[in-house]
Amino acid sequence: MNYQSILEEIKEEVYPYLREGKVANYIPALANVNPEQFAMTLTMFDGRQYSVGQADTLFSIQSISKVFTFTLALKHYGLELYERIGREPSGNPFNSLVQLEYESGKPRNPFINAGAINVTDVLLTYFKSSTSTSKKILDFMHAIADDTSIAFNDIVAESEMEHGFRNLALANLMKSFNNFDNDVMEVIKIYFQHCSIEMNTKMLSRSMLYLANHGVDPITGKTYITSQQAKRINAVMLTCGHYDASGDFAFHVGLPGKSGVGGGIVAVVPKMMGIAVWAPALNAQGNSLVGTKALELFTSKTGLSIF
Ligand code: DON
Repeated sequence: MNYQSILEEIKEEVYPYLREGKVANYIPALANVNPEQFAMTLTMFDGRQYSVGQADTLFSIQSISKVFTFTLALKHYGLELYERIGREPSGNPFNSLVQLEYESGKPRNPFINAGAINVTDVLLTYFKSSTSTSKKILDFMHAIADDTSIAFNDIVAESEMEHGFRNLALANLMKSFNNFDNDVMEVIKIYFQHCSIEMNTKMLSRSMLYLANHGVDPITGKTYITSQQAKRINAVMLTCGHYDASGDFAFHVGLPGKSGVGGGIVAVVPKMMGIAVWAPALNAQGNSLVGTKALELFTSKTGLSIF
């Protein structure tokens, strides 16, 4: 298959839609991003990469980081983790409080904000201090992307901190139900920090390879998680990776994937490749509008959906 020409075709076809949707404006530091940007990269198991657009431009990975923190938490806690965090789609917006109250402070899944904040809490308990938790998250990113230049963006993290009332409310609600170990503020700071990680589509698609290959990095041979854990992370990405648009994403794209409000989406073609796409303007559910379109075009043109 000529992946490069397929990517070029996709780029041509999505360009007219780049003005549709809206850049996330509730995180002030992200509100000024130019919406007319697009990048897409495929990384194969032998390390070959195919890219179009601004594939070297760094952007805020935001909720995509939840895949990596979930991986770390599963690695250290195994099935015990599901006593605190569920694995069902929420059918609600990513930052919703209502369901959390009804369900006594147990988040539906690790990808809605409440679930990801709870995962961060679990990691802080395990790694014992904020500094070492942040370091372990970044070390893991460096390993799976094979790139030690990956860093937090402190300006984005602090900007989110100034407006993070809803996330603080979610954390406090979980704390009130005794489903939270640590100081709320300390956990939220680490959560915003991991959301502020900056990567480009080349790095992100590379970082998906362990999930496309049963937990083992096909390039370095390093095992990160068990095959069963990788299967389950992919399953949760498929069912919960796009919040209340997860069904729609499965319907149109048909791959396990995870979005972030920075406009990035990662996806996995099992046993073949990692994919990352970036276009900053979002649809009503907070997922990249053009990114979703580009992935739909990709699976339609290549037949590489899992269905
Ligand atoms: O907690 C927040 O609101 C952001 N740091 C991340 C949200 C996000 O990326 C939702 N995804 N589409």
